[in-house]
Order: sequence, then structure tokens, then C-alpha cells
Amino acid sequence: MNNLVQKKYAPATERNRDSILDVLKDCLPDHGTVLEIASGTGQHATYFVEHLPNHYWQPSDPDQNSRNSISAWWWDVQLNNILPPLNINTQDDTWPVENIAPPLPITAMVCINMTHISPWASTVGLMKGAARILPQDGILYLYGPYKIDGKHTAPSNELFDINLHDQNAEWGIRDLNDIKDLAMEHGLSFVKTVHMPANNLSVIFTKD
Ligand SMILES: C[S@@+](CC[C@H](N)C(=O)[O-])C[C@H]1O[C@@H](n2cnc3c(N)ncnc32)[C@H](O)[C@@H]1O
Repeated sequence: MNNLVQKKYAPATERNRDSILDVLKDCLPDHGTVLEIASGTGQHATYFVEHLPNHYWQPSDPDQNSRNSISAWWWDVQLNNILPPLNINTQDDTWPVENIAPPLPITAMVCINMTHISPWASTVGLMKGAARILPQDGILYLYGPYKIDGKHTAPSNELFDINLHDQNAEWGIRDLNDIKDLAMEHGLSFVKTVHMPANNLSVIFTKD
């Protein structure tokens, strides 16, 4: 199969990548390996590494087609600081990344658009993994739509939430308070949210 067939394309990544990159530049530790959970197509990974030359980027996704796509996107940039994609499902008790030593220690985890497009158990697993893997002061960065105090932040998010439920009863836009409580249970302190275009939020935690 050729590169073009394997390459998946998500138009939203081109709309949100620069605003996400700005926040990452501000909140990531100065160096280290960034473990990306739910990398999807691989477009974010390949874009971010070009702009974060002091970091290694470890993409991952449980979906084989996505991992093929990440490899296909990597083929275009061929940068040494992006590592081959791993098969990480946050719901698993241990993750393959725990058995390997990346070129630099993992100092941050990034998870974009997963918490609402997967069962709540995936977010629970994400926090458990962050507790196991991140060093003290390590960063967990989340991006996506979130409810605040039980309320949607825009009518479009409310419609999106209904649409998600229709696709899968276990999916849905999470409340930021539930995410913060879950993070705290796993030794992660809330740092801040950053309002992003299209009614999304960046949500940043640090490991205690
Ligand atoms: C909407 S896509 C987002 C992909 C990419 N981050 C982006 O913003 O374009 C959701 C991704 O979450 C991944 N995913 C779903 N459940 C997961 C889990 N339990 N652990 C890790 N990834 C998961 C899917 O395979 C999919 O690639």
C-alpha cells in the first residue's frame, strides 16, 4: 500500500494546530519527550515536532490505521525527533511506552480530542497513566470541548454533544469539574485553562 493510501487527513487539525502549538510552547517543559495519546492521523505530531526542536515526540494510538497514517505523515517530514507510533490504549493497565526508554525522559503528555470521543473509562485510564509515567512537575495537556459547571460553553457544543451521544452512548462532552476531580485523585494539580478558537479549551495539569 502506498503512502497516500495510508495517510489519513483531518481538516480540523489544520485549523487548530497553531493555537495549540502556541499554548504548548508556553506550557511544555524546556526539553524532554512528549508522549501524545490518541494521535489520530499524525498531522499534529508531525507539525508540532517541526516547531519544537528541543523535544522528542512519541505519538500513539490504539487504532492500527491511525498508526499507519502517523507513519505515513512521518515519511513526509523524516525528522529524527518524532518516534515510531506506539499502540497505546489508555484503558490498558500498562502501556508499551513503560517498557522502553525514549531518547530523553518523558516530561509531558498531550491528549487532543479524546475525552469526548471515547468512553469515560478512557479518561480514567489517561489519568492513571499520567500518574504512573509523568515525573514530578511533568505536564498533562488536554484539548477539546468541555462543559463548565455543568453547562455547555456554546450552542454548537450542545449540538455536538447530542451528536456524539447518538453515535455512541458512552461518548460525550465532559464537565471540566469532573476532569479536575479525576486529575486530583491521581496526583495531578490543575494549572489553568486557555480559551481556544471554536469553543474549545486547553486544560493544563502538573504532576505533584
Ligand atoms: C477524534 S480522534 C482525535 C485524533 C487527534 N488527536 C486529533 O485531534 O485529530 C480520537 C482518537 O482517540 C483515539 N482513542 C479512542 N479511545 C482511546 C483510548 N482508550 N486510548 C487511546 N486513544 C484512544 C482514537 O483511536 C482516535 O484516534
